[in-house]
Amino acid sequence: MEKITLDHPDSQSADLVAQHIEQLSQLFPEVINEGKVDFEALQDLLGNYTDTPEERFQLNWAGKAQARCEAQKRSTGTLRPCPEESVDWNTTENLYIEGDNLEVLKLLQKSYYKKVKMIYIDPPYNTGKDFVYKDNYIDNMTNYLEISGQDRSLGTNTESDGRYHSNWLNMMYPRLKLARNLLTDDGVIFISIDENEFANLKKVCNEIFGEENFIASIANINNPKGRSDDKYIATAHEYISLYAKEINSFQMGGFVPTDEIIKRYNKVDTNGKKFREIDLRKTGENDLREDRPNLFYYFVYNEQSGDFYPSKEDITDNCIIIKPQREDQKEGNWRWGFETSEKEIHNLFPKYMPNRKVWGVFEKDYLEGRGAVKPTSAWTFKDVNSERGTEQFIDLGFEKTVFAKPKPIGTVIRASILSTKISDIILDFFSGSATTAHAVMQLNSEDGGNRKFIMVQLPEATPEDSEARKAGYKTIAEIGKERIRRAGNKIIEELKAKKAKEGALFTEEHKILDIGFKVFKLDSSNINTWDSSPSNLEGALYNSVQNIKSDRTEHDLLYEILLKYGIDLVQPINEHTLVGKKVYEMGAGALIVCMADNIKPETAEAIAQLWKKVKPTAIDESSKAAINCRVVFKDNGFDDNNDKTNIFQILKQHGIDNVVTI
Ligand SMILES: C[S@@+](CC[C@H](N)C(=O)[O-])C[C@H]1O[C@@H](n2cnc3c(N)ncnc32)[C@H](O)[C@@H]1O
Repeated sequence: MEKITLDHPDSQSADLVAQHIEQLSQLFPEVINEGKVDFEALQDLLGNYTDTPEERFQLNWAGKAQARCEAQKRSTGTLRPCPEESVDWNTTENLYIEGDNLEVLKLLQKSYYKKVKMIYIDPPYNTGKDFVYKDNYIDNMTNYLEISGQDRSLGTNTESDGRYHSNWLNMMYPRLKLARNLLTDDGVIFISIDENEFANLKKVCNEIFGEENFIASIANINNPKGRSDDKYIATAHEYISLYAKEINSFQMGGFVPTDEIIKRYNKVDTNGKKFREIDLRKTGENDLREDRPNLFYYFVYNEQSGDFYPSKEDITDNCIIIKPQREDQKEGNWRWGFETSEKEIHNLFPKYMPNRKVWGVFEKDYLEGRGAVKPTSAWTFKDVNSERGTEQFIDLGFEKTVFAKPKPIGTVIRASILSTKISDIILDFFSGSATTAHAVMQLNSEDGGNRKFIMVQLPEATPEDSEARKAGYKTIAEIGKERIRRAGNKIIEELKAKKAKEGALFTEEHKILDIGFKVFKLDSSNINTWDSSPSNLEGALYNSVQNIKSDRTEHDLLYEILLKYGIDLVQPINEHTLVGKKVYEMGAGALIVCMADNIKPETAEAIAQLWKKVKPTAIDESSKAAINCRVVFKDNGFDDNNDKTNIFQILKQHGIDNVVTI
């Protein structure tokens, strides 16, 4: 029976370095030599595609190497469940995690690897007035526990600091790197940002996500009148940077057409259907014939007979020959290939353009059947206006001064519409007042979805003399949780009112709409570390026997085990009493935990029977791992070594050989 100590790989968050080596060895087994990378061999394999550090185009800043290492380090923390602050603990699939997002992202690596469809973040913009978290590269967990224990606000990253931009980049780099791992292959990240760090963010994201996965920089017009205190140009927008995890897997949704867009469909065809005309000639980059020769061909139009078709030649008598021609008379190209034009000829028509005195070809773009339209890179919608954010916050009964500038839910709803399906997971690890959670619940109530949210927020102390403190909120996390409670109730009330108006029953909606959330708080591991300093020998010996911290509960331990074995935190945990001992089972028997003392062979027998009862009968060969059983006991839960050996043997006889102690 293996004992899992704090430094055992199973007791820690994901080992990212080991994962990278594994991936590399799968691709190029020859470059891994006795567990180490042979860089010369790798260079040989990559031929001309390697460069020297002096020639490399890259973004550098003070501390980058350390920030990169920081992303690779494992967390020594855990997430402790907090049912008393949660809503609908037993049923909800939403999470609210209080803690430094770097440690939390590390802890989520096993359970949420490739599970998050969309990330929206609104990090500190580095305005010189906002707080930028400083990681402690030696012991980030202890640093966090010290900071979160302090009842005072955390200071700001000021422009006079010599490492002003470096501090911000050092904070963002490891977080973005870890966040990327959590995205599904077709996942996407939206990052709100303003002019202060826009350029740096773009460069750092190009490095982390790959330039090829850049989708757009959206100009989010959040203040259409412009900021009056700007000296030269009144800023009316900020940005949303958008990157895919894997651009070829990502599929972009669209927006329901606005009245303004509908107005553009101002033509009606012979069947009475509305359409708009779009020139088939390509404009913008690569619009010359020589750029894309295969997109250059002719259209033949016979005015008498009405015949109209694409042709590779221009020698047809008595017909009008139309070719793509730029304003400067140079030959251009079409947007569609020849075959597509042949197939879609019913959607094309010739038209004389009197201003240019040439014939052109136009596409009929129909409104009907077009559920959603492609978004543009300028979001001028009223619902992304910053004022809406404050109004929505006040609408929930908060004073405006309790939280400065919450984002409008419209911005996050729009990001979700473009990138998620109805049961996807959405993560925000700079959650502030929890606008994202509010937006997810609101969107679910509108489209019957079941999207789930994960919020991460530092328990950042509110300033002592602030309105937030006066209103009873000691930390921003407390504001966030209270906002979700209020927003959830409001959404339910609105649904009830809507149903009543329609004369329908409300119950079904209530069951479906998840307005609950499970609260977890970041803390040091439940398992004691081995302190080898001679001065604490007695304490260390005691800890090695009592290796679970005395102030921790069985539930604390259970969730640490879940995280370390990569089971998600919303899995139902089934509690059983077997021959007088409490036994927890989750994931259809994938994990069975018994933290009781005086475990006897009868307990092992009962555990084996339980596993047989809960494990799925139909065993899918490919998913065997999911139904494999792992049993966890407390290391000092046995009376003696004889019992320990017997228990292990009994479980083995029943086919369970993955038995560990902590
Ligand atoms: C600009 S606010 C986000 C506001 C949010 N979008 C809203 O609408 O309420 C950024 C938030 O990130 C939090 N934060 C900063 N550093 C953090 C860290 N290391 N871990 C978790 N949260 C952090 C701050 O406390 C702040 O509340």
